[in-house]
Amino acid sequence: MSSESAGRSTWKSRTGFILAAVGSAVGLGNIWRFSYLAYENGGGAFLIPYLVALLTAGIPLLILEFGIGHERIGSAPLAFRKIGKKWEWLGWWPLLFTMFGIVLYYSVVIAWCVGFVFYSVNLAWGDDPDKFFFETFLNLSSSPFEISRIQTPVLAGLLVVWLITWVIITRGVSRGVELANKIFMPLLLLLTLALVFWSVNLDGAMIGISAYLRPDFAKLVDPMVWVRAYGQIFFTLSLGFGIMIAYASYMPYNSNMTGSAVITALANSGFSLLSGFGVFAILGFMSFSQNQPLEEVVRESIGLAFVAYPKAISMIGTAGPLFGVLFFLSLTVAGISSAISIVEAFVSGVEDKFGLDRKVLTTVLCFLGFAGGIIFTTDGGLFWLDIVDHFINNYGLVVAGLLECIVVGWFFKLDIIRKHLNKVSKMQLGSGWNWTIKLFLPLFLVVILMNQLVRELLTAYGDYSWASLVGIGWSWIAITFLVSFILAVQPWKTESHLEKGRGEEL
Ligand code: PHE
Repeated sequence: MSSESAGRSTWKSRTGFILAAVGSAVGLGNIWRFSYLAYENGGGAFLIPYLVALLTAGIPLLILEFGIGHERIGSAPLAFRKIGKKWEWLGWWPLLFTMFGIVLYYSVVIAWCVGFVFYSVNLAWGDDPDKFFFETFLNLSSSPFEISRIQTPVLAGLLVVWLITWVIITRGVSRGVELANKIFMPLLLLLTLALVFWSVNLDGAMIGISAYLRPDFAKLVDPMVWVRAYGQIFFTLSLGFGIMIAYASYMPYNSNMTGSAVITALANSGFSLLSGFGVFAILGFMSFSQNQPLEEVVRESIGLAFVAYPKAISMIGTAGPLFGVLFFLSLTVAGISSAISIVEAFVSGVEDKFGLDRKVLTTVLCFLGFAGGIIFTTDGGLFWLDIVDHFINNYGLVVAGLLECIVVGWFFKLDIIRKHLNKVSKMQLGSGWNWTIKLFLPLFLVVILMNQLVRELLTAYGDYSWASLVGIGWSWIAITFLVSFILAVQPWKTESHLEKGRGEEL
């Protein structure tokens, strides 16, 4: 069996692999994005579509990505190349829009968190956290093209984030990524448990928690609630990023992959649901202390972590700074373990194809990541972040996921992957899984996509000018798309590992 794994990095243990996959999945998306989506989409009402999306799309697709990486034994470009010569670009494209898209601004949001760890110590936001965040910290201009300066504290945080990422990735798969997650994940769990426990004991916490858990069935008829729930599941499980494919390729032959996918998905959503208690308890506490209805506590989504939380921290009293440090530290840890997974997936792809030295490659990539993030640290940065995030999440991830299902489902024998997974895993997949991948998901994703596209063309997203949407958003998607073809036609350094996968060998 294992001629193929000679020379390929491997995880030391299955626990290490699962922790790394959970580390990628659990990120700012679980604490910050999940909570504000739940808040905006009717609290408890959101949990139903979210759980349905987890079961019908999240778990089946995560199993597919683990299966592709493990059976084909390769990072996304290599795995798709082995699926068919003409599909290699589909492996590169997600790596490009995540490495030169998502992680550029995601690391800037982590940099904000790093800054706020320090600001928590002396409650630097004073009595107007809103003004502090938007005016002092971000110094927000009025449009994406109005850029006059770089915000130094953000830039400093960004440098810290990239240095940590660089140290971890240069150390390699087991001594770097695995070890970091073995430290980060238990630490994150402890921080979160402490915060949740603390929050639910604040006055008024129950007001928030009952809003969090109370289902509002009327909301379920709004298709947008469903679209957002499915979008969140993609983002939160790092699906369509090419990450889970690379991570699975580092697993030795006899590994229970299906079971690992289910554990990863449940751990990730469990984490979101848990931190949701903390966030809603804080909202309840604020609504109680300020005597305001819950719906009015937060003005905008982005303000949840950086405006509402600081407000709450100031109201907690003497222990407020400790609470703040713990909260922003947990966001930082969750964010970094996700950011490293993007860089690792890219490194893995380039290593597979061009056989470059990991240290040199990582150094160049981390430098580019830092440099590329600078635009988001300027006074127009938040607008850029918002536009790039909108396009990559709504089009990049969903289109990548859709094409993945179509290519593997219709242009390849999906059964090779299913049988392989069944051979190595305890949990057995029936043919229902094939139909989910071949039919249900593609149809569903096309509907979501069309719906988005129509809305997009009817009304410009977020009141931005068409020039900024086309110049920044659409171009980002188009350029990464083109580059993926350019990379795909380059010659492979060694042809020896372009053979078949594990399922066909046996
Ligand atoms: N799953 C991550 C999250 O929820 C998304 C992500 C993964 C973002 C990797 C960046 C890098 O935050």
